[in-house]
Amino acid sequence: MSSPVYRVLPDAKKRALIDDEKYLKWYKQSVSDPEKFWARHGKRIDWFKPYTKVKNTSFTGKVSIKWFEDGVTNVAYNCIDRHLKKRGNQVAIIWEGDNPYDDKKITYNELYDKVCRLANVLKANGVKKGDRVTIYMPMIPEAAYAMLACARIGAIHSVVFGGFSPDALAGRIIDCESEFVITADEGLRGGRKIPLKHNTDLAIEIAERQEVRVKKVLVVQRTAGKIEWFEDRDIWYHEAIAKAKPDCSPAKMKAEDPLFILYTSGSTGKPKGVLHTTGGYLVYASMTHEYVFDYHDGDIYWCTADVGWVTGHSYIVYGPLANGATTLMFEGVPNYPTPSRFWEVVDKHQVNIFYTAPTAIRALMGAGDEYVKASSRKSLRTLGSVGEPINPEAWEWYYNVVGEKKCPIVDTWWQTETGGIMITPLPGATNLKPGSATRPFFGIQPQLVDADGDVLEGTADGNLCIIDSWPGQMRTVYGDHDRFVQTYFSTYKGKYFTGDGCRRDADGYYWITGRVDDVINVSGHRMGTAEVESALVSHDAVSEAAVVGYPHDLKGQGIYCYVTLMAGVEGTDELRKELVKHVRTEIGPIASPDKIQFAPGLPKTRSGKIMRRILRKIAEDDFGALGDTSTLADPTVVDDLIDNRQNKK
Ligand code: WT7
Repeated sequence: MSSPVYRVLPDAKKRALIDDEKYLKWYKQSVSDPEKFWARHGKRIDWFKPYTKVKNTSFTGKVSIKWFEDGVTNVAYNCIDRHLKKRGNQVAIIWEGDNPYDDKKITYNELYDKVCRLANVLKANGVKKGDRVTIYMPMIPEAAYAMLACARIGAIHSVVFGGFSPDALAGRIIDCESEFVITADEGLRGGRKIPLKHNTDLAIEIAERQEVRVKKVLVVQRTAGKIEWFEDRDIWYHEAIAKAKPDCSPAKMKAEDPLFILYTSGSTGKPKGVLHTTGGYLVYASMTHEYVFDYHDGDIYWCTADVGWVTGHSYIVYGPLANGATTLMFEGVPNYPTPSRFWEVVDKHQVNIFYTAPTAIRALMGAGDEYVKASSRKSLRTLGSVGEPINPEAWEWYYNVVGEKKCPIVDTWWQTETGGIMITPLPGATNLKPGSATRPFFGIQPQLVDADGDVLEGTADGNLCIIDSWPGQMRTVYGDHDRFVQTYFSTYKGKYFTGDGCRRDADGYYWITGRVDDVINVSGHRMGTAEVESALVSHDAVSEAAVVGYPHDLKGQGIYCYVTLMAGVEGTDELRKELVKHVRTEIGPIASPDKIQFAPGLPKTRSGKIMRRILRKIAEDDFGALGDTSTLADPTVVDDLIDNRQNKK
C-alpha cells in the first residue's frame, strides 16, 4: 500500500530556513564530520568560556557521553540575560489560564526579575549547586521561573507532572533525595481543582518514612484554596520573592554539569531518572526548535504539552526561550469550556506555530468540524505532532480541517531520553506522508536491526537504534549508571536502542510502529506495564496481575489488566471500580485501567514466564491468531481467558 505524498508547500519553502538542498547538504556534513558540524552549531548559545573539545562519546563499555566538555555556560543566562538588550520588552511567555478570561504576558525583562528573585530565595534557603529541587506545579509561569531559577544557580530540577499521585511524587523525591519542593496550593484544569499542596504534604510523609526529609516547601498561591500550613517548613512564594533581591548572577556551569532529572517509565522496575546536562542539551533543544518549526523572530509559538513531560522542558521552556521566542503556556485542557478552546486561543494570541499530540487531535476530530470552523486560524503556519504515531485519518484531518491545506505538519519522533526531536520533517524541505516521521534531523543516524541485531538495509521493518551520539542525549540514569548501560546499550552492543519498532520505506522515510518492549503509550503518556501491575498487586484482593496495551480509538493505547484474585474473593463490578480507584491513587489518573478481566489463571510457560503475546492478542479480540500455545504450563487457561474477554467486538 503506498501512502499519499504531500509536497512541500510553496509558501513554506519560500520562507524556510532550510530547504531540501540545504537539508541534504547539512545532513551529510553532520554525519560525515560530526566534530566539525557541532563545533559550528554549538556556538548558537553563548559560552562564558568557549569549548575546545566538541565530542567525546562512546556507546561501548561503560558508555560515556560528553559534549563541549571544557565549555562553561549557564542555561538561564542563555534563555534570559542574553536577550535583554535586544528584546527586553518583548513578550517571553504568554500565559493563557484555564478560564478563558484569565491571561497574562511576561516580557523578557520581567522574566529576568522573577527568575533572579526566585533564584535568590532558593539560595537563601540553602539550595546549592548540584542539589535536587522537585517541582510539582500547575501550568503557570511560576513553573518556568522555578526551572530557570534552578538552572541559574546550578541546582538540578526534577519536575513531576501535577497529575501524579502522592505516592508517585514521593517515589521521585526519594530517588533523588530532594530536600526542596516547589508547588502550588492547588492546580486548576478544566474547571476542576487539583490538591497539589495536600498531595505534597502526603508525599513528604511517605518520604520521611524512607528517611528522606524535605526541609522546605515553597508554595505558589494559585487558587487561594484552603490548605494545611507547616510554619517551620512551608514558605509562601509571593512573600519570599517580594523580599528577595532582583539580581542574581548566573552560576558558571560546565557543559556536562547536570541541568535536570526527569522520571520516565521503562519496561521494568521503578521509573528511571533520566539525566540531562547543560551545554549539549541546550544547543540541541534550541537548534531543533528553530529548524523543525521554522521559527522566525517575532513568531508566536505554542506547544500544548505540560511542563511535567520532556516536551514541556525542551519545547515550552528551554528551546524557545534560548531562541528569544514568545512561547505560550496553557493551563487548561482542549475541551474546556468547549472543544473550540485551542482554536480560540490560536486566534486570541495570533499563534503561528502550534504543536500538540495525536490524542488531542483525535478527541477534537471526534467532537466535530464545527468547533474548528468557528475560528479563523489565519495566523497558523506550521502544525506539529508528538507523543505517539499519528494515524493517517487524524493526520489528514489536522492538515485539511485545522490547517486548511496551508500548513505543513511536522510529525516529530523523539523520547525523554533523546532530549530533543530526532526524526522529523522540516517545513520547507520535506515532502510529507501522513503517519511517517520522515527523515532524521541533523546528526542523527538511525539504524534498523532485526531481533538478532543484524543490520537491515533499504526497505525494512525492525527495531530502531541510533548508532552515534548527539548533543541532546541523556547522559545517565540518575544514581544508576549501570541501569543506563543495561537499558539502552546492552540489547544491541554499541548502539542506543530506542525501544521502538520502525519501518523504513523505499524513499528512506521512517515510520515508527510503536514500542516493542513492555511499555505502553496512553494518550502520549508513557507507562510501564510493570508499574501498573505492581499497583494492582498491592491491593489486598489481588494475587497476581498482568497488564498489556490494546488499540484505543482516542488514547492510542488503552490499559488492559488481567487480574487473578486471592482465594475466596469474588470478581464483582464493585471490585473492578475499586481496583481502578486503587491504581489512580497509587500512580495517578493517567494510569487508570480501561479494562479489567478477572482471570483464575494466567498463561505461563513451564518456567513461570507470563506469555504476554497471548494476552495482547486476547485484549485485541484477535484470538484466532494466538500462535503456538504448546509451551504453556496449562494450555486450558487460554479458553477461560477468551470466554471472559472484556473487549468483544
Ligand atoms: C515514546 C517516547 C518525545 C516527547 C513525548 C513522549 C513515542 C513519541 C512519536 C511520534 C511515533 C512517537 C515512541 C517513543 N513517540 N513521538 N512522533 N511518532 N511515536 O516522550 O514519554 O519519552 O515517550 O513515545 O514510542 O519511544 P516519552
